[in-house]
Amino acid sequence: MGEIFAVLSGKGGTGKTSVCAGIATALAEEGKRVLCIDCDIGLRNLDISLGLADCSALSFLDVAEGGYPLEQAAVHPLFPQLQFLTAPMNREAEKIDARAFSALLQQAKQHFDYVLLDAPAGVDAGFRLVAAPAERFLLVTGSGPAAIRDAARVGELLELMGKQDVRLVVNRVDRDLLSTVQITIDDVMDSAGLPLWGIVLEDANVTLAASFGKPLLKYAKRCPAAKAYRKIAKRIQGFHEPITLR
Ligand SMILES: Nc1ncnc2c1ncn2[C@@H]1O[C@H](COP(=O)(O)OP(=O)(O)OP(=O)(O)O)[C@@H](O)[C@H]1O
Ligand SMILES: [Mg+2]
Repeated sequence: MGEIFAVLSGKGGTGKTSVCAGIATALAEEGKRVLCIDCDIGLRNLDISLGLADCSALSFLDVAEGGYPLEQAAVHPLFPQLQFLTAPMNREAEKIDARAFSALLQQAKQHFDYVLLDAPAGVDAGFRLVAAPAERFLLVTGSGPAAIRDAARVGELLELMGKQDVRLVVNRVDRDLLSTVQITIDDVMDSAGLPLWGIVLEDANVTLAASFGKPLLKYAKRCPAAKAYRKIAKRIQGFHEPITLR
């Protein structure tokens, strides 16, 4: 039985999509069966970070409500264990049948080891659609105090929804500020009770890989961000991977 992970943040542009694609490809690289779903309705771009922008892909609505079988989800040409459903462009999040979406995820759990949901920014309908059926959460935040406070707030919202397995990924960390950031991370873990699951350094390869239409793990195999994604993928699988800042 697979697990449903939501990658979310509340704030826009923190790196949810990049982290989601990075972890999905890292898990697939290890032979795990992964379904990645772009839930950023109307603003989808997970296909770009996965290096699938030129492939045609069913949307999750095509499967949840349109009668297409889940097996027809796009298969990644470089990671055959990784399948992908894109987000619909012509339906508002409020109008999506949450029960049909949830049923799709339950079905996906039978076929995949991990189902990763790339959430939209914000804490409204799209957020609720993703958060409600998800079991485990990766909250992606920047390293500044304001970003971390926002993440803590989203953590509280998830707690109110009865969600317990919520972990923090601090993204775009400046190598020169590592020691300062460490203090902030300790603070947030104390005050918000959010355990840390990864630190991803600022790494131009993330944007370059997307610009060249390649998944990061193929574009720059050993760059800092790729290493960080692989470590998070290990932790997701239950391996002990110490959190290191370098
Ligand atoms: N570790 C990183 N180092 C450098 N740039 C990064 C890193 N992670 C993400 N970026 C860049 O930050 C920008 C935003 O990333 P991304 O689209 O993944 O964020 P998002 O949270 O999904 O945004 P949105 O809220 O709009 O969905 C992109 O240009 C991406 O290439
Ligand atoms: Mg995104």
